[in-house]
Amino acid sequence: MKIIDYNQSYTNEIPNLFTNTIHKTCNKEYTKEQLNAWANPNIDYESWEKRLDRTKPYLAVIDDTLVGFTEFYDDYIDCFYVHDEYQGQGVGKALMNHILDIASTNDIKKTRVDASITAKAFFESFGFVETRKNEIKRDNQVLINYTLELNLQNLSIK
Ligand SMILES: CC(C)(COP(=O)(O)OP(=O)(O)OC[C@H]1O[C@@H](n2cnc3c(N)ncnc32)[C@H](O)[C@@H]1OP(=O)(O)O)[C@@H](O)C(=O)NCCC(=O)NCCS
Repeated sequence: MKIIDYNQSYTNEIPNLFTNTIHKTCNKEYTKEQLNAWANPNIDYESWEKRLDRTKPYLAVIDDTLVGFTEFYDDYIDCFYVHDEYQGQGVGKALMNHILDIASTNDIKKTRVDASITAKAFFESFGFVETRKNEIKRDNQVLINYTLELNLQNLSIK
């Protein structure tokens, strides 16, 4: 597996992975209606393409197959998803260590994420600490997530 910079050959694979991962792995913590509000199965590829050109995610790939991706800009971790068939194999850890390397190179002192209920413990295992519980209203649904922060000063990479 390697972590690469975004390129446009993955423009459709990224929203496919995002949508599949949410529907297949977050269904214990969220209802079907909430999952649809979070990740509409009717994917709007055009708006994703615009978003990805702006956020330029980092991609985890195995033999050119996308197995995970994350967006990290300023001090904020936006999307962070690992393909359901590749979870528990170190892909998330590799993406997180990539973020921590970039943060270290750019002298970023603190980073922040709005984590799903599903992923909260993953971020906590890297030392992130909850600072807020959020109720996100979307399509007549209310989705719970948590803002977590990680102080990067004096941090040793996992
Ligand atoms: C959460 C997620 C990103 C983790 O990725 P992953 O590739 O499965 O994680 P890894 O295999 O790299 O695990 C890294 C470490 O985190 C721990 N970990 C992984 N998922 C965990 C979880 N849900 N709870 C607690 N610890 C977890 C692992 O035990 C491992 O610890 P170790 O290094 O001591 O063995 C992935 O499961 C996922 O995409 N989940 C669903 C989508 C989602 O909610 N994304 C986040 C939106 S904010």
